[in-house]
Amino acid sequence: MSDPTRIQIPAEIQNESIRAFVEEWAGVTEPDRIELVSAIDDPRLLGEALTSGELLPAGEGRYYARSHPKDTARSEERTVVATSDPADRGRYNNWRPASEVKPLIVERMRGASRGKTMYVVPYLMAPPGTPLSAYAAGVELTDDRTVVLQMIRMARVGLEHFDGLTDADFFVRGVQVTGDPDTLGHGTPEDARLFATIADERTILHYGSAYGGNALLGKIAHGLRQASYDGYTSGKFLAEQFLLLGIRDRKTGETTHVCGGFPSASGKTNLAMSLPPDALGDRYRVDFFGDDIAWMWIDDEGRLRAINPENGAFGVAKDTNEHTNPTAMAAIAEGSGTIFTNTAYNHLTGDVWWEGLTLQPPAELDGWLDWTGAPIADRGPDQQDAPWAHPNSRFTIPLAQIPNLAADAADPAGVVVDAIIFGGRTRDREPLIRAIDDPAVGVYDGLTLGAEATFAAEGIDGQLRYDPMSMRPFFSYSEGRYAQHWLSLLRQVRELPVFAHVNWFQRDPEDGHYLWPGYRENLRALNWLMRYRAGDAHGRPTPVGVIPTAEELDLTGLDIPAEDLDRLLRIDTKRWMEEVQHRQGHLASLPDVPREILDVHEALSTA
Ligand code: GTP
Ligand code: MN
Ligand code: MN
Repeated sequence: MSDPTRIQIPAEIQNESIRAFVEEWAGVTEPDRIELVSAIDDPRLLGEALTSGELLPAGEGRYYARSHPKDTARSEERTVVATSDPADRGRYNNWRPASEVKPLIVERMRGASRGKTMYVVPYLMAPPGTPLSAYAAGVELTDDRTVVLQMIRMARVGLEHFDGLTDADFFVRGVQVTGDPDTLGHGTPEDARLFATIADERTILHYGSAYGGNALLGKIAHGLRQASYDGYTSGKFLAEQFLLLGIRDRKTGETTHVCGGFPSASGKTNLAMSLPPDALGDRYRVDFFGDDIAWMWIDDEGRLRAINPENGAFGVAKDTNEHTNPTAMAAIAEGSGTIFTNTAYNHLTGDVWWEGLTLQPPAELDGWLDWTGAPIADRGPDQQDAPWAHPNSRFTIPLAQIPNLAADAADPAGVVVDAIIFGGRTRDREPLIRAIDDPAVGVYDGLTLGAEATFAAEGIDGQLRYDPMSMRPFFSYSEGRYAQHWLSLLRQVRELPVFAHVNWFQRDPEDGHYLWPGYRENLRALNWLMRYRAGDAHGRPTPVGVIPTAEELDLTGLDIPAEDLDRLLRIDTKRWMEEVQHRQGHLASLPDVPREILDVHEALSTA
């Protein structure tokens, strides 16, 4: 057995606080060795992972990883936020007292890295030099090499990123221990997995998963949960599951910036990467800033500014193809350094495949393995319909590979936010876009955001699974206080962004087809919003916002049936009245909702 007191802490770690942190946790998890990592170690670590079989080659400069079949998604039930203040309890954050959670995890982590390497991964969740850099520093300790390789793609990794910090002791302390996936009891009452953000100690302890959404601590646990807690307690900023893009108008030379929240798997990555429709492509360009997280603050001139704290993208593979997302296809091309997770894989050719990449799966089955590693050719008749790739299979790429990456994506000053949009998957009721001028109504709209329950089991038909601000899985404190924090910050903004609600997913009630073609055509709705904001379009006022008229929407080159367009731009009063009722219950279930928000709801109920 290894003696933890004899493990060498790498001499390059001179920061005493980091040394003490590493020493403390090495004493708990008892790894065989400790290794400090920086981005320049990527080629060596890739080589080691290929030799060990953790990664498989997927063409020139591309890699394939398979996670444990029970470890393929974020686990919301096993995720908690722990603090010492019960007032932090929210509806969705699974709040628990820190004094209870911490010993529980320490116990599980004890000796759990024996025989493994503890990688010390110092990182920055921000472009260097931003006003929020102090909140961006973290150190993740992990016993999984693939997690390190994904962190190198998703964050700015290396001790050099700590050089510019004024307080080298103020960093998020993260510990990720994979455990033995075969004995964790996934989904049983004895489920040993536990993912805790101890927010008031700025400590993240995740036990029992090597899947990206759980194990890349910089991304969700730090970038969203911890950062939104820090933003609230400091009173300085917001951290949101938001995309961030620029719309560049080549004619005027101006770029407007849009950020916004859509629940997971509702189109953030696709929108941030979208190419303009062919007919508008000479004039407009979409600049990618971020596809999953935005941090926002108010600058000295009273403008709302945003940055993307990430350095990479962790995108959904399903339905990504040359038609839906050519930008993503270019970003994951040979030589890109992409890591694919849980797609189908051909062990003879190194090719990868997922549902929607092509209309039909490869006809020649030779060498093809499904996401669990089982040969497709050996499938029995009852398995023919099973997907080849896991529905949540993903690609991990550095931002530098994204062809439409904005030239100023890493500008530490961030960009001024001109519009904030919310959007979910709603088959009826929600029009293509409705603009909202009043910021309190905008915050209310965010709080009542939801996505349709996709299976009957998940919810009541026609009722949304509410996902306030698209932050439901990532809240770290009470939703009502969160809304209050938004309102307080917006009050300090001199030139307010316009708000809007968008819906790319409305369907025909008869045959169920999507009324709006979506994807690259979505820019048309955003363009209208920008013209509305500039006073060049006026739309039609309704009780739930301003809706474009059919004439105002630029539909050049788009063939869309008049009756579909009519439905996309109409308010279904009866369905809205039902929705207002549902919202009543939803708002009542959230703690501490500010009076201002309840007033907005009241006004809508009686409109
Ligand atoms: P996370 O990364 O999990 O937070 O999700 P996301 O919001 O980035 O979602 P993403 O862009 O990966 O899209 C999820 C799914 O929605 C994919 O299967 C897309 O093909 C599909 N999708 C995205 N945009 C559109 C659209 O405009 N119309 C339709 N019909 N589907 C879309
Ligand atoms: Mn996300
Ligand atoms: Mn995404």
